[in-house]
Amino acid sequence: MGPTAILTGASSGIGAAAAAQFVEQGFTVINVSRRDCPVAGVETYSTDLADDTSAKQTCSVLASRLRDAEGPVCLVHNASLMLKDRCDTTEDADLLRVLAVNVIGINVLNRTLLPLMPKGSSVLYVGSTLSEKAVAGAYSYIVSKHAQLGMMRATCQDLMGREIHTALICPGFTDTSMLRQHVGHDEGILSSLGEMNSFGRLVAPGEIADLILWAHHHPVINGSVMHGNLGQVEH
Ligand SMILES: NC(=O)c1ccc[n+]([C@@H]2O[C@H](COP(=O)([O-])OP(=O)(O)OC[C@H]3O[C@@H](n4cnc5c(N)ncnc54)[C@H](OP(=O)(O)O)[C@@H]3O)[C@@H](O)[C@H]2O)c1
Repeated sequence: MGPTAILTGASSGIGAAAAAQFVEQGFTVINVSRRDCPVAGVETYSTDLADDTSAKQTCSVLASRLRDAEGPVCLVHNASLMLKDRCDTTEDADLLRVLAVNVIGINVLNRTLLPLMPKGSSVLYVGSTLSEKAVAGAYSYIVSKHAQLGMMRATCQDLMGREIHTALICPGFTDTSMLRQHVGHDEGILSSLGEMNSFGRLVAPGEIADLILWAHHHPVINGSVMHGNLGQVEH
């Protein structure tokens, strides 16, 4: 049996680009999200990670799959919910909704799948520039992205000796629906965000997918934070 890639949020953007590359490399590729993955050959387990029952049902089916599989697994925690909110007005229910997708969903998958993953596997977190810094107006997302940094570091320590590696891949401004929605589809803002790095453009989803694939194939980076942002201008 060959390698398996399990990606959350491969219905669009970075996840879909990574799914396409895993397919090209001969992996069995499974997407976990509400919508189907547009890439031919990818199987979608329709899941709302904000819904505990839905997440647990999917995990139980994935666990049966992994028990029958023999090859290494690349588990990519990529799905995220981003709200526009602030530290002084966010309702608990909104913070919980973001944490459900961006943190608890990861925990359910880890708890179910990590015990079944053989050596040579990897668990990769797609964080953000906002895993290590903050900007105004994205409070719950920033809280969750910092939590993912902690989860990745704890994963490295807790899996010591199992020959399963981990990393946090932190995209900068990447041209996906999440970014477009966040800026209200304003081309002027998108272009000015693109100018905030050394290359004067947005990162392409495929460039982050390249990093994800590379990270899976290079266990030496175990425990690392990898930024993919074309060199952001610091203020
Ligand atoms: N784009 C950027 O500028 C940027 C920058 C830094 C970090 N990132 C990170 O990159 C990752 C991928 O985002 P993207 O930019 O590629 O955005 P995207 O195209 O909007 O993709 C987001 C994915 O998350 C999934 N998702 C959201 N809520 C979900 C839920 N409740 N249950 C299951 N899946 C859910 C979506 O699937 P469904 O809607 O089908 O459920 C979708 O596939 C995220 O972790 C994001 O934080 C992006």
